[in-house]
Amino acid sequence: MRIYKVGGAVRDRLLGKPVTDIDWVVVGATTEEMLAKGFRPVGADFPVFLHPKSGEEYALARTERKSGRGYGGFTFHASPEVTLEEDLIRRDLTINAMAEDDQQNLTDPYHGQRDLEARLLRHVSPAFAEDPLRVLRVARFAARYATLGFTVAPETLELMRQLSESGELEALTPERSWKEISRALMEDQPQVFVEVLRACGALKVLMPEVEALFGVPQPPAHHPEIDTGTHTLCVLQQAAIHKQPLTVRWACLLHDLGKGLTPEQEWPRHIAHEFKGLKLIKAVNERFKVPRDCQELALLVGEYHTHGHRAHELKPSTLLELLQSFDVFRRPQRFEEFIAACEMDARGRKGLEERSYPQADYLRGAATAARSVAVQPLLEQGFKGPELGEAIKRERLRALKAYKEKA
Ligand code: CTP
Repeated sequence: MRIYKVGGAVRDRLLGKPVTDIDWVVVGATTEEMLAKGFRPVGADFPVFLHPKSGEEYALARTERKSGRGYGGFTFHASPEVTLEEDLIRRDLTINAMAEDDQQNLTDPYHGQRDLEARLLRHVSPAFAEDPLRVLRVARFAARYATLGFTVAPETLELMRQLSESGELEALTPERSWKEISRALMEDQPQVFVEVLRACGALKVLMPEVEALFGVPQPPAHHPEIDTGTHTLCVLQQAAIHKQPLTVRWACLLHDLGKGLTPEQEWPRHIAHEFKGLKLIKAVNERFKVPRDCQELALLVGEYHTHGHRAHELKPSTLLELLQSFDVFRRPQRFEEFIAACEMDARGRKGLEERSYPQADYLRGAATAARSVAVQPLLEQGFKGPELGEAIKRERLRALKAYKEKA
């Protein structure tokens, strides 16, 4: 039995990056031998085991063949005869298809090290096409390593294009897709993820609503970058620069979807795009079974981001409606995330990245003013039920009026 470190752990060590989790491949062993050594099987019929102490994944060397659509359609063959090279050739990228023994001797039959130096994301073999999720994985790695100068090899992009056109992406489960999308959005350059998906034709399959933003102009006075797709990428980039959480990044990606629906004769204006975009945001949310907090923020930011920009002009009653829509009295954090998304939207414009965004503090101040209304005195005055609700609202409105006059 020979044991090797494989995949990301080898790649990241060679890149000088911190290694978080280690995957191992075991050559020359049987399931029975693994069980006898105390390894715990991960699934009933998959040759992957967890180490009894470290909990790390140990997989028997295997070959794989695709036997149907989607991820379920796989047959694999694991036996003590399968060689390390045979196991490595079924993997996605050359930089992920290197193995290392306990002396740090590298096995690199597909020239991963050369591609690391050349900063290339290149597929190992035509077997790449056996798992369509790899289209998203490559785009995610491109987003992660763009800062180091990595790009996708032209022949790999071509293969990704063929996969995208083949209809295979539609067979991906929402869960697998979302896992890649959410991880990609949290990378340093999430906009590269979208760019690579677009370059290989996957974006129009996965998120046609985002693809539709490219080629749609906006007024140059507010948007020097003009193109709505370009703007969306800039907003996403700002969200990463400002270390925003996933909820905010997801909302940034989807905030302007409504602009893709504007009839051409109305360009470059986009009247009511906030409202029109809601059904598209909902569709994308549902397609990937997006977690609730991300779904909700995306919808709220879609509907209210221009309110955020016009914060100083909003009437006290509109301000109060805005705060109520966010349920700010119970969920202050979500309102903070809304403010952050608005700020990213304002900065995600060519040449305006460093602008200040006084609306942020103004909105925070408004929330504080409305929250400062104490309920106890109203209870003492005898208000109950719906009347109490009305009285609280009246007092909050009064507080917001005073706030607006002072600001
Ligand atoms: N792998 C693959 N195709 C996939 C998923 C994984 O070929 N669809 C292989 C790659 O060799 C990869 C290894 O399995 O390096 C481990 O996969 P995973 O843990 O998902 O990714 P890492 O490469 O470790 O990268 P990350 O840092 O993103 O976890």
